[in-house]
This record gives sequence, structure tokens and C-alpha cells, in this order.
Amino acid sequence: MKKNTVLKEIETPNLMNASEENTTLKIVIVGHVDHGKSTLVGRLLHDTNSLPDGKFAQIQQSCKKRGMPFEWSFLMDALQAERDQGITIDTSQIWFKTALRNYVIIDAPGHKEFLKNMISGAAQSEAALLIIDAKEGVKEQSKRHGYLLHLLGVRQIAVLVNKMDMVNYDERKFNEIEKEYRAYLKDIGVTPTFVIPVSAREGDHIIAHSDKMKWYKGPTVLEALDKFKQTPALNDLPLRLPVQDVYKFDERRIIVGRIDSGTLKVGDEIIFSPTNRSVKVASIEQWHSDDIASKASAGESVGITLSEQIFVERGHVASHKKNAPFLTNIFRAKLFWLGHKPLVLNKRYKLKLGTQEVTAEVKEIEQVVDTGNLERAKQSQVERGAVAEVIFRIRGTAAIDEFTNNPRTGRFVVIEDYDVVGGGIIDLEGFADQRVKEQNVKSGNLTAVDSHITTDQRSLANGHQGGVLWFTGLSGSGKSTLAMELQQRLFAKGYHVYVLDGDNVRSGLNKDLGFSATDRTENIRRVGEVAALFASAGVIVITSFISPYREDRRRARAAAADYFNQIYIKADVKTCKTRDPKGLYKKAIAGEIKEFTGISAPYEEPENPDLIVDTAILSVDESIALLMEYVQKQFVEPVKTMRDVIAGGI
Ligand code: ADX
Repeated sequence: MKKNTVLKEIETPNLMNASEENTTLKIVIVGHVDHGKSTLVGRLLHDTNSLPDGKFAQIQQSCKKRGMPFEWSFLMDALQAERDQGITIDTSQIWFKTALRNYVIIDAPGHKEFLKNMISGAAQSEAALLIIDAKEGVKEQSKRHGYLLHLLGVRQIAVLVNKMDMVNYDERKFNEIEKEYRAYLKDIGVTPTFVIPVSAREGDHIIAHSDKMKWYKGPTVLEALDKFKQTPALNDLPLRLPVQDVYKFDERRIIVGRIDSGTLKVGDEIIFSPTNRSVKVASIEQWHSDDIASKASAGESVGITLSEQIFVERGHVASHKKNAPFLTNIFRAKLFWLGHKPLVLNKRYKLKLGTQEVTAEVKEIEQVVDTGNLERAKQSQVERGAVAEVIFRIRGTAAIDEFTNNPRTGRFVVIEDYDVVGGGIIDLEGFADQRVKEQNVKSGNLTAVDSHITTDQRSLANGHQGGVLWFTGLSGSGKSTLAMELQQRLFAKGYHVYVLDGDNVRSGLNKDLGFSATDRTENIRRVGEVAALFASAGVIVITSFISPYREDRRRARAAAADYFNQIYIKADVKTCKTRDPKGLYKKAIAGEIKEFTGISAPYEEPENPDLIVDTAILSVDESIALLMEYVQKQFVEPVKTMRDVIAGGI
């Protein structure tokens, strides 16, 4: 069988081909039906000569026959009915044209799924027309629409104050609405590109300037549309090729998918996430032709073969090595919830991130936003129609991007019972890329040298084992106080003990590191390695670092293997804020310290610590007693047993 014949049979996921995409601006029209949405669409189609021939006259006539006044919405209803019956060819999108370019409305009336489509990115709009009814003024719903556009990253917005004919084309009324709505948008960080007074029904300011509103000097709707910019080409972004499937032809395997962004050439070195395997592109098989291409770009569905047979499956993401996606098991989402049942804290959901499907647990609902008054509240669930900031933790790692860097791979949808129940965009601020370290091995040709002194010999000589007591907890939880006190008590007993403390290590070994997620990861990586060295030297090393990320602590544990003990010095943010020994919380709350753990940067509580010392309840003495007991059990008793065995043997 010829390979491309098969490729053609696989449904292409995209509705437009790449060249159409470059000359077409995708717009969304948001507003309540009663605010004149259908009327506006009907008017736009008519005034740009985009209606099917004779359609307008036909509806006019039938209205006349029935003695009804003509309404634009009848026209839209008629088109909708035809689309439903499959009479009009294009069933999903409404197109119109200006002298400058094509437009496609991705949420035409009747497109019930448009919200889901927008959230999932199936239909990314580049600009929006947002309708407000001049008679009704700014209502809750208009605010929600504005918020939603902001959330979905639509940055070019023309606000149309419609039905100006119903308010006698009153300039004052328009100014009032404009002022109020601009103020709302300003609070959410949005500047509307234009605010236009229109009457869709009468055709004022749709394509022509209106002599009934001479006071208005701005552009018409069509002029405004033509002023919008096409968003930067997806081709210019880093390569993202989510794998849809892997097909076997003869002996070859073809990796199939649609390029979300960037370009791909034969010979390119690519890596697959999350496996992190790199390989070269041997060939690119084109979807729509029999040609073998040497290059493919965003929007194209391709099949590629690789220079080596490596394990690849659906859900993996190919990228260039240099600009790989973020690899993480945790991220923050700005979420829009559509489910009938609320989203609940600690519950597991199925997330679709491109072609990746993962199980994710809601670890935290940071805030639920009331889109009307923009108040933010802490709640344990998110109701239908609400917007929230949520932390998801997924099983394994997934390859994702921050939405602001890549609108395609920076979003996700939540699936429940085969239905989209929510979705949102990804915000990675404060989270570390978990790929970096594994990849960053620069030294080669190394052979480990064995020490002639065994660990047991050291333990017997010291009277205790070496090991790591890894203190983790918020700033102000008492890590340093307890570390220093414990050190003193152990030293007094003659033990070999040493404290590695964040503030100290950061002024020497780690003085090149700040508090970004990446720097913290490196901080903990280095300390983890150093602590492991101390432990193998037979020392009880107490580390006192916030170490906010679970993955970093896992890595530190891996460095010291069996000698690692995770001690959670527990105190909640409220307690730490009250203590504030260094005055840092005060500064952080005032915005003087950025990325401060517990205030503006996350802290992931340990899931299964070896010991919890709850300093909100225990005094320093009680905490030390607990720690001393732990040290005795973990570090001293095994050596006593060892001695007894040796003595018994003699
Ligand atoms: S960690 O997150 O990388 O583990 P580490 O424990 O080394 O942090 O350093 C934390 C100490 O640095 C805090 O006790 C505090 O004194 C100081 N510090 C300065 N800026 C910050 C910040 N933005 N977040 C947390 N701690 C900070």
C-alpha cells in the first residue's frame, strides 16, 4: 500500500490549510443574543456582500408576505436552518471579506460549542467584537465576556455599544457606557482597541460613518476590523509537534501529528518529551500530496520518519532540542469551569493537553474570581460559569508551555464523561522546568573511584551513622532555629554534625543564585549533592532550606539515597507571618520582595515526610526532643546493633 494514501484517510484535525490561515483573521463576537449579536452578523454579511445570492431578497419577501417587519435575525435563522440541513456547504464557520482580507467568525449564532472550542484552542480567535446594549448599559454579563476574552488571551477588542438608535443616538449615554466599561477592563489589565457606537439594525457605523452620530470620530466596525493585526505567525514560535499516532509501514514507523507551531526540516535534531530522547528527522511525508517534503510548518499535518527507532507514542511532543517545552508535574491554571458538577479540591480529573491525556489532581484552588466585581475569594470548589486559579498536579510529567509563550500548547481542557467540562490557560510562574537537570550533563569520561574506608568503618569510629536530616518548610517555620539547636545538642554528645543553612550557603557556594524557580532548583540540587558528600563522610548533616518543590527534594533524596531523611518543619503561612523573624513577610506583602515563598511563590508540602515537627504547636524544647529521639533511632541504634553483632562474633 502506498503510504500517503493511508495518510490521507486519517482525518485532518484542522479546518483551514496553512495558506488560508495567513490571510484570514479569526474573530469572535461576544455578547448576549438580545444585545443584537445575530443582527450584527447579518448586517456584516449583507454589507460586505457575503450572503448567498438572493438570500436577503428572499427573506425580505417572505416577511412582507406574512406582514412582518424584516429582522436581520430571520436571515441568520434561515442560514442556520440551511446549515443544520447541510444545504450550505460550510457548516461550521461564517466568512466575510473586506478589501483587505478575509474574516471568519468562529462563534456564529448557533455555534453552541464556541465557548468550548475557544477554551480548547480548537478555534483561537485573534480579535473580538464585544457587544453591549446601549439601552441596558454595562451589565454583569458584559463584564464576564470581557473577563473571558482576557482569560483566553484575546488582546484586540472592539467594544460595540449597540442599539444606539434606541437611545436617540445620545452621545452622553454612549460616553457613560464607554467610561464605565473602560474602567472595568482597566482593572483586569485590558485596553479595548476601540469603543464604537453602532446600530446594527440601522447600519450605523458598520461599514459607513453615520450622519446621526457626527460626534463620533473613530473608525466604523469594518475599519476597526481592518486595523487589527494578525497575531504573530505560529511558524515563528518554537517547534511543537504533538504525536497523534505512530503508524507502521513496511519496516518503517511514521510518527503522525499536526505541527502546532514552528517549522520542521529533514535532518533537524529533535527531542521527544517527556522521554527526553533525541533523534534526527529522516523524512517528512506530506499529508495532502504524494511529495516527500524537506520542510513543514505550523498548521500542517505530517508524518515523519526518524533516523533511529526510538520509543514514541501518542501524547509525546516533538520539539527542537534548544527550545523544548516545559516539563513538569505541576502547574497553575487560569480555569474556566463549565461543568454541571463543581470542580472540587483534591479530586482527580482527566486533562487533555494537546494530544497528551493525563490524570490531574486539584492541589489547590488559589482563588475564585467574581468576574462581576473582580473580588477574589478562597473557596474549596469552583461552580459552573466561574473563573478560578487552580494548581494541578499530574501523574508523571507532561510537556507544556506557558500560554503567553505559545497559545496552542499553553492551554488544556478538562474532560468528564467524554465531555469538556472546563478549560483554561497555563501559567508557569514560580514553577521549575524539571527537564533542565537531567539534560545538563557536561562532563564525560568519568570513572568513579572507590574509597578504601567503608561506610560501616566510619560509623563504628564515630558511634553513629552519617546521613542527611533534610529540613523543609516555610521561611519562619523554625528550620534554622531547630537546626542550630539540634547541632549543638548532638555536638555536646560528641557527634559529628554540621548545618548547611540556606542563608549561609547562599552567601558562598550559591551566591550566584536568586529565588526564581530555576535558581531554587539549582540551589537545592547543589545542596543535595553537598549534603550527600557530608553524609558519606560520616557526618550527620542538617540542611535548612525552604526547598519548596517536591521534585527538587526527590532529587536531593536520590543523591543521598538511604541516608536521606525528610523532616517537615511545619508551620502555616499565617503563623510564619506573625513570627516574621527577618521582617521578610512584611516586605513581601508590601511587594518589596518578589517570588516570596508562601506569599507570591508556591510551597509544596511534603507528601510522606519521615518526620513532622509541627512548630505551630510544639515549643523549641519539645521539637528538639522529638528530633533527638529520631536521631537516636536512625543514626545511633543501628551502630550499637552493629557493635553487638561484631562483639558477638568475636
Ligand atoms: S530555597 O527556596 O531555595 O530553598 P533557601 O532556603 O535557600 O530557599 O533560602 C531562603 C532564605 O532566603 C529565607 O529564609 C530568607 O531569609 C531568604 N529569602 C530572600 N528572598 C526570599 C524569597 N523570595 N523567598 C524565600 N526566601 C527568601
